[in-house]
Amino acid sequence: MCGIVGYTGPKEAYPIIIKGLKRLEYRGYDSTGVALLNHGLKVYKKKGRVADLEHEIMGKDLHANIGIGHTRWATHGEPSDKNAHPHTSASGKLAMIHNGIIENYALIKKDLVSKGYRFTSETDTEVLLNFIEDIRTKNKCDLEEATRIALKRITGAYCILLIDEDDPETIIAARKGSPLVIGVGKGEHFLGSDASPMLEYTKEVVYVNDYELAIVKPDQLILKNLGNEKITPYVTKLDMDLAAIEKGGYEHFMLKEIFEQPSTILDCLRGRLDAGKGTITMSGVDDNIQHFRDAQRIIMVACGTSWHAALLAEYLFEELCRIPVEVEYASEFRYRNPIINKGDIIIAISQSGETADTLVAIEKAKEQGAIIFGVVNVVGSSIARISDGGAYTHAGPEIGVASTKAFTGQLAVLMMMALKIGKEKGTLSEKRYTELILELDAIPEKVQALLKSAEKVKAIAEKYQHAGDALYLGRGFNFPIALEGALKLKEISYIHAEGYPAAEMKHGPIALVTEQLPVVFVATKDSYYEKIISNIQEIKARKGKVIAVITEGDEIIPTLADDVFYIPPADEVIAPMLSVIPMQLLSYYVGIAKGVDVDKPRNLAKSVTVE
Ligand code: M6R
Repeated sequence: MCGIVGYTGPKEAYPIIIKGLKRLEYRGYDSTGVALLNHGLKVYKKKGRVADLEHEIMGKDLHANIGIGHTRWATHGEPSDKNAHPHTSASGKLAMIHNGIIENYALIKKDLVSKGYRFTSETDTEVLLNFIEDIRTKNKCDLEEATRIALKRITGAYCILLIDEDDPETIIAARKGSPLVIGVGKGEHFLGSDASPMLEYTKEVVYVNDYELAIVKPDQLILKNLGNEKITPYVTKLDMDLAAIEKGGYEHFMLKEIFEQPSTILDCLRGRLDAGKGTITMSGVDDNIQHFRDAQRIIMVACGTSWHAALLAEYLFEELCRIPVEVEYASEFRYRNPIINKGDIIIAISQSGETADTLVAIEKAKEQGAIIFGVVNVVGSSIARISDGGAYTHAGPEIGVASTKAFTGQLAVLMMMALKIGKEKGTLSEKRYTELILELDAIPEKVQALLKSAEKVKAIAEKYQHAGDALYLGRGFNFPIALEGALKLKEISYIHAEGYPAAEMKHGPIALVTEQLPVVFVATKDSYYEKIISNIQEIKARKGKVIAVITEGDEIIPTLADDVFYIPPADEVIAPMLSVIPMQLLSYYVGIAKGVDVDKPRNLAKSVTVE
């Protein structure tokens, strides 16, 4: 988490940095700060959003051709002005911003305090900065060397940008575990946690790898490893345009991203699924087809919404490929001593490709010989790069903190994979394969049709905005969708919500049911339909309020439920890609009715690069 931006070149640095920070605010928005170098170091920082800082420093002398900026998601130290980045060193000459956590900062701090250093913040960043300064003074070396020495002695994760009053053209940058992209312009360089701050200036970028350090000047980019050996920067071309990261007339990114789903799903299927020919082409799967065919077990690792996609994939792979699947929270998996057998495949699912828990989990599994397959949205991200093979979800930049279009993209990829592998293995009949291919092909159009009822969802959302709690229930393929619906409601509306398999109700949660409790059922026409009707009746018998997502043409559930959302008919394997849409809209509209900043809900950040 935390967003970082840097610029060195002939242009005014401040407007580039502030605009870049606004684009990176999805990564954290507890405080903002910039450091500019122009005949001395100027640091401006403040608790709150980028716009608050921008407003406060309007009219000040912000002229500079080099600078760094930071938007924070607090880890060490509460959100406050003093804990905001950039931090300055004891001499006042160095300024640094940091995304990550220095785990052994307390010991280093103790040592520095004994040498007379005083700290103005509670952050681990200020400790690392003074550690670097102390090494530079003691060893009489340059800043680059001092940074390298310090980084070899710390544990944890970092992406740092560092500027020095005495070297007013250079930014020193380094990363381990937190992302860093360097944009290469003509006589100028841009730095960012992702490529969004540099999109209008250059399409040529270098993705910096872990344990690499960059010395960045307007007309020079030197990349080295921590052993001081030079590395040739690998310049890649960005395949992203500005429109993709703008709201395009929508009030919020979340709404834009929900409404983009017909086209993002189509983009994901395009070039892969050919319904006419009955083929699915996925080079990442083709390259590993023997591994998938022979796999005794697949382990899916992910967090949050991506974990819900993994859970659905368990149902899919078991049903269509007859491969046993285990679904793991990456944060648990990485700290266990998991048993990994030869030939096990780990599928890592992540929108950002930077989630620290997922990244470390697959690094560990890789060390133990597992084959890593990444299902990732952000091209060139860390998880994509360490995977042995993979498939991008092609959902485009997802900026709203709540994941929506990335989730349906994940489902589309996982469905294609399950169909392809099932066919290869012969666990799926030709007839069923063809049926499901046609069903999947029809999804973008069905999502488009479904979105037409957004206004109806809005009216229902307004009715339930004052609820204190909510339950989300589903069975079979719709159970992961119930979990996803509950997560969306929690993060966007702050209403306590829990998801359960509908049949689990009677083992405890049914005690919660009162006249005030909304219970959302994902109850589309599938093999569990009769059973879930009984579950709805159990809730109604206790006077709970039932909101149900049902299939068009259903004549029974509307007579039982208080409110219903319809989805077009679809095969039960594919239907979750439709049934999740009303869930996304419901949470969005409840959040709006409650006045929540839905794109940046409290305490959250889009990309969780700390454990
Ligand atoms: O980028 P990832 O998919 O790895 O992120 C995982 C979770 O942090 C993410 O899905 C989170 O739960 C979202 N806020 C959900 O809307």
